Amino acid sequence: MKPAITLDLSATEADLSQAAALLRAGHLVAFPTETVYGLGGNAQMGETVAAIYAAKGRPSFNPLIAHVADIEAAKKLVQWSDLAEQLATAFWPGPLTLVLPLRAGHGVSSLVTAGLSTLAVRVPAHPTAQRLLSLVGGPVAAPSANPSGRISPTTAAHVHAGLEGKIAAVIDDGPCGVGLESSILGLVGASPVLLRPGGLAVEEIEKVIGQSISDRDQSDPLTAPGQLLSHYAPNAAVRLNAGSPKPGELFLGFGPLDGDLNLSPDGNLAEAATNLFDHLHQLDGKKTPIAVAPIPDHGLGQAINDRLRRAAAPRD
Ligand code: TXA
Ligand code: MG
Repeated sequence: MKPAITLDLSATEADLSQAAALLRAGHLVAFPTETVYGLGGNAQMGETVAAIYAAKGRPSFNPLIAHVADIEAAKKLVQWSDLAEQLATAFWPGPLTLVLPLRAGHGVSSLVTAGLSTLAVRVPAHPTAQRLLSLVGGPVAAPSANPSGRISPTTAAHVHAGLEGKIAAVIDDGPCGVGLESSILGLVGASPVLLRPGGLAVEEIEKVIGQSISDRDQSDPLTAPGQLLSHYAPNAAVRLNAGSPKPGELFLGFGPLDGDLNLSPDGNLAEAATNLFDHLHQLDGKKTPIAVAPIPDHGLGQAINDRLRRAAAPRD
């Protein structure tokens, strides 16, 4: 049987129109955002959303983020609040996802929310994602474009490696600038809760809203469904906070602790975030255990360490 081919598109207006038409018709298209490549599907079509879960091999209790072009489009989907307005004004478009109560008439498939009464919404900053979303004109559900549990993609090549033949097209527009998924903030209860650390440092968010953000209640699966412990996993074993590699290990360095690859020789956390998934992809290709240098746990380091802990977690 002839395998299905995943179409390679570029960021030209003609290709983006084609991608938008594919999405409107219910096909799956991977596209670049400033954080990671997303596996996009029409959020209003249940069968399409089911196909996203199937392509990723993702457990269906794990809800997806609805991507829209601007604040106005987000307001049509969720119940807006003063805090949402303040955060969206400060950080959208950008690597922040807000979880808010669904609004009547939202039109989003219940497979996107995995049956919850809340929706995660995000306005990505990447100009190609922006243009694509305007052309589609409706919400696009998009998890990271990798098989469930594997390392997130920051280049179109990563997407092909994981999903070739399973999706209609990939828009190749070079490597992602941030390199880590968006930070997810829950605005459903009395005070904001950090559901997932990500590409926007929590300190930046706290500065804008003038209040501290609590971490999610780890014992409550509903506050961040799908935050499975073993995630972002390379094929090889991963050992964290290593001062140096043991014999037979590859070493992923940071700052002066140099190795086979270095996340940031200057010890810059933004640069380390950008390089994290790509370096893991590269070292993973060698199928050898990977030791990782310690990463400071502030700013973007929090999200980097979160992803590294998941990469290192035991799995079956
Ligand atoms: O940067 C990103 O956010 C990327 C790019 C493509 O935009 N997307 C992404 O999506 O990371 P995904 O599906 O890999 O992560 C979505 C996470 C879920 O695992 C879940 O924890 C959380 O968002 N989530 C989604 N809807 C939620 C909801 N209603 N309540 C709580 N958490 C939710
Ligand atoms: Mg993901």
